[in-house]
Order: sequence, then structure tokens, then C-alpha cells
Amino acid sequence: MAELTIGEKDFLLDGEPYQIISGALHYFRVHPDHWADRIHKARLMGLNTIETYVPWNAHSPSRGEFLTGGGLDLARFLRLVAAEGMHAIVRPGPYICAEWSNGGLPPWLLRIPGIGLRRWEPQYVEAVTEYLEAVYRIVAPLQIDRGGPVFLVQIENEYGAYGSDKEYLAELVRVTREAGITVPLTTIDQPQPQMLEDGRLDGLHMTGSFGSRSTERFKTLREFQPTGPLMCMEFWDGWFDSWGFHHHTTTVQDSDTALDEILSVGGSVNFYMFHGGTNFGMTNGANDKGAYVPLATSYDYDAPLDEAGNPTAKYHAFRATIAKYAKVPDEVPAEAEAAPAFEVALQERAGLLGLAGELGGPRAAEHAATFEELGQDTGFVLYETSLEGRGPGVLVVGEEVRDRAWVFVDGDPVGVLARDAHERSIRLPRAGATLTILVEDQGRVNYGERLGEAKGLIGGIRLGGEELTGWTATALDVDLLPSLDLAGHPVDNGPLVLTGEFELSEAADLFLDTSAWGKGLVWVNGFNLGRYWRKGPTQTLYVPGPVTKAGRNRVVVLELETMTSTTASFVDGLRLGQTEF
Ligand code: GLA
Repeated sequence: MAELTIGEKDFLLDGEPYQIISGALHYFRVHPDHWADRIHKARLMGLNTIETYVPWNAHSPSRGEFLTGGGLDLARFLRLVAAEGMHAIVRPGPYICAEWSNGGLPPWLLRIPGIGLRRWEPQYVEAVTEYLEAVYRIVAPLQIDRGGPVFLVQIENEYGAYGSDKEYLAELVRVTREAGITVPLTTIDQPQPQMLEDGRLDGLHMTGSFGSRSTERFKTLREFQPTGPLMCMEFWDGWFDSWGFHHHTTTVQDSDTALDEILSVGGSVNFYMFHGGTNFGMTNGANDKGAYVPLATSYDYDAPLDEAGNPTAKYHAFRATIAKYAKVPDEVPAEAEAAPAFEVALQERAGLLGLAGELGGPRAAEHAATFEELGQDTGFVLYETSLEGRGPGVLVVGEEVRDRAWVFVDGDPVGVLARDAHERSIRLPRAGATLTILVEDQGRVNYGERLGEAKGLIGGIRLGGEELTGWTATALDVDLLPSLDLAGHPVDNGPLVLTGEFELSEAADLFLDTSAWGKGLVWVNGFNLGRYWRKGPTQTLYVPGPVTKAGRNRVVVLELETMTSTTASFVDGLRLGQTEF
């Protein structure tokens, strides 16, 4: 019976010192038909382990549900890791941060009155217990002592950066052990004394998260944990991208030096990320440290494998460094090939506002209901009220717009209220009969105090100082757009739905250049590729080969603003945008 234990200064695999050389690969950010390829390439870089988070909100869109089909088949993912002869680390949260909407906490949690997040609060603990039991039903039989790949499990995530409730951590451990998890349990924290102190729990092995100055970080970790293996559970070998900023990179040289410092002292490592993948659909999170900054669709992360799964210069440098300390397979993965480049003329097919009735049912309420009140986890809500001839005047949202609102009077666009610019007032230029406001949730904050906040038009809406009431709100399921018959729907002055078709001789990875477009979403053959935004940095949406097919393919675009060209331009590779250096 195989087992991993915590030794005096090393991990011990069946009693022998074992250096974990692991890479983060989030199954939920990679098309399931690509999992095996990415895992194989991890082994070829010299890795012996794959690490993944588990996103509660993706698995449980409603309470009591735990989806495991297709891209959420965690058991299949772990079996593929085992088939490659590798071990696995599972980090089920329940909070995962990860630039993932709400750090993985499901929006239905937020609707429970009085719920306390990430602390010992009975309602929260009860929901977390249900979730962890569902995860561990999958993970427990796949542990190393039962012939599976899983040899470490993490409790919470960087808890010391958020709270210090030891009773809560102890409860997570109790639930984990009771669910049959027997492997060692770890915590992770940024190596700062206060965070390490707040995030630790007796009996759990402490690990750190950092991307530079490894020797110094390990020293800090040692002060809190005099014995046992040193592990960087998140070796930040790149960084994430946010809309409106440059594309973040780290130099190969700097990352490689920091890696060497870890490996040369026998430390264990988990590359964060080995392969970042993509925030497909509307799954991205956001930061808010005084200003709201949503995360970009690409989660390339400047990682060893790029967003499309191709090796980069970093891959080869890390492979060479790992080879100094461990056996690395001779096989080297193939370099990226140029993707097919071609153009598709799109047709403007219908206005979104006119399609609202086919995307959701209107609900009446005195006040503009929040997304949570409407049971809308993400995406868009369309608000409407009668102006009864009022206007012109200044429209004011009482507290905050979450996150972006397009305002129309009698169907004519008036302007945008953007949370990222702290906007919550706009002048209506004329009187009208109907006020329409389309609101987008651009991603829930995944780090810090604003975790778990409501979405929509927060704090009431006034026109010329007078509260507007008598609203209808329609929660729109925009993922229905590709399957709608658009014939006969008018093209209006609001957001537009455009479609186009193209032929392929065989399925292939594609890269859709969105730099001529404003802001919106794209589907290929019904698969939601994610958001685009002219703010950048990312210029391309990655189309995973398995969603394309030989023969006819269909692209559907929801453009919320304006385009400089209605051509869909597919280019030969990733364009991640301008870098700082
Ligand atoms: C922390 C979190 C991760 C991720 C990284 C930044 O380390 O634990 O989930 O958010 O920051 O990419």
C-alpha cells in the first residue's frame, strides 16, 4: 500500500525522500479533450505531479447539485493523471481565489440570509460540508493508499490573507477526515508572518505561495515550521491579466533562478500555473482594491504551456533546470503550428433588446431587483420602467453599478455607467416613455473584502432626485443565443447579435482576433469562448480545436457596443497584447 508522509525534512513516499515537482492545471479552464495532452506535456517537462483546484460554483449551480459531466469530470481528470504515471494534489477550497468568479463560492450561498463566508457560521458550514462530501466521494477512492494518484489535499486557500478563525479550519479538517481523506493535509499562505500565523492549524503541513526570492521565503516558512519538507505550493511563474492593463509576463531568467533556488535545497514545488488555459464563458473573477478590475478571458499566465497548450521558452528552460535534480523524459513536445488564418463576413441579424423575451421571463418588482433576488448567477439582466414623459434630467444609481450598465430611452442609447470608472450618474437628454437599462455582471470579486457582494443596480435609482419604481427585470440567458432562430427580429440601435459561417477541412485550434470589436461575447458551434473587450490586453479568443469540426462551423457574436469592422478575422496564433518591458 503506497503512502505519502511528512518526514523530518522531506516528503516520504513509501518511506523514501520524495521531491514533489508539480504543475497546476485547472481542468475547468481546459477543454476536456485536451486534458490528456496537457498532462502528458507536464510529464515531459519533468513534473511528477498535477495539482488542481475544484470550483464549487461550477459543480453546484444550485444547492444539492454536483455536476460531473464533460468538462467537470474530476474523476476522469484524476484518472488521466494516474494513467500518465503521475501523482495528484487536490485543492477543493471551498474558497479557491484563482481569478475565478467569487473565488468559487456559488452565488446561491449569498442568498441565504445572515450567511457568514469563510468562517465558522452554521449555515455556511452546513453548505460547505455538503460540498466537501460530494468532492471527497470522488477523491477518496482515488487516493494513493487505494491505488489512485491523489497524495495531498489542501484545506482552504491562503486563509491567513482573509481571516483567523481556527474553529472554521478545524471544522474543514474534521469534515475532510470523516469523508475518508487519509493523505496529509496542507495549508498555503503568502510567507508573511501574520498570514502564516492566521492561516495555519496544528497538524496541517504549511506551504507557501511566491514567485521570487525563494530562499528568503523558505526561511520565513521555516520560522513557523521548524521541521518537515519545504514546499512552494504556488510558484508564480507568471501572472494573470486584467482588462485595461498590459499583458503580464515574468522573464524566463528570473523565474528560472527562483525555481533553481527551490529545487537546489530539496524543496518541493507546484508551478502556478503549468498551463493556465482560458476563462471560457462568464467564469472570470475580478479584483477590487479601490477600483473594480475584472479579469481577462485568457488565463495564459505566461506559463510554461501557453493558453493553447504549446510549449514556450519558459517550458524549455524549466525542463533543463529540473533535469539538474530529477530524471526528465527524452521526448520533447512539438512546437506550435500556425493556425488557419481566414476571414468571415458577419451579418447583423437581430437586436438583443428585442430578443429579451426569448432569453428570459420578465419579473415585476417595485425596485430594480438584484441578480441574486432574480436567481441570476452571472451574465445580464435587463431592467425596464416607465418614465411617463419624465426627463430630461440626471439619472443616479444610489450606491454602485455592478458592473456595467447601458442606458436607453425609448430604445435609443444614452450612454454607459461603468463601475471600473466609479460612474453612477448619467444625463438623460430628453423626455421619454420607457427607460431600459442592460446590466452586465463582469465577474465576481475573488479576493478580499468584496467577496460575495450582490450584482445589479445597487441602492435604488433616481431621476431628477425622484426614486424610480415599478420595474420589470428580465434575467437573460445569453447562452441561448446560438440556438435562437433570429429571422424576423429587427436590428435596432442597441447591442447586436451577428452570425457567420465558415468551412474547415478538419477540426483545428483557432484564434479569433477581436481587436476591431467593442465589448461582447462569442460562441463557436454553441461553445461560449468568453468575453472580449477593446480595452485589452488580449486581442484573441482561443477556440479549442475540439469545438470545431470538418465542414460547416457557425460563429455567433454578441456585440454590446460598437465595432470598427463586422469581419470575424481568424489569425495564426495567440495575441496576448502589449507587455510592460
Ligand atoms: C494566490 C491564490 C491563487 C491565485 C494567485 C494569483 O496565490 O491562492 O488562487 O489567485 O494568488 O494568481
